[in-house]
Amino acid sequence: MPSPSDDAPSQAPYARHVFICNGQYCDPQRQSAGLYRALSRQLGELGQYDNPERVKRSITSCLGVCWGGPLMVVYPEGIWYHHVDEAALARIVEEHLRNGQPVEEYIFHRLDEDGAVPEA
Ligand code: FES
Repeated sequence: MPSPSDDAPSQAPYARHVFICNGQYCDPQRQSAGLYRALSRQLGELGQYDNPERVKRSITSCLGVCWGGPLMVVYPEGIWYHHVDEAALARIVEEHLRNGQPVEEYIFHRLDEDGAVPEA
């Protein structure tokens, strides 16, 4: 593996990374941009760059599912949420991202199918 060079980018520590799909197939009503903005507000201190428990957030054009959106996936757990509206997002932020309890009603897939959530 090559060693980092002097011009390599740097990355502050973080605990989770959330992706929201804005593709036309799973989000035909284009709700994802509003969810992305709401996520920033709702994260509060969890969105701050110098917080090692930080939750990074990204918009992506497709997650390869293309149905039942808006879709959102949370890593490192690999927990996938469907039909995420503002109310669902608020629950996901509070219950999952703050308190470590995924919101079962909106989950349609997880990397670890036995349901165990790895330590963040
Ligand atoms: S368009 Fe959203 S998963 Fe493909």
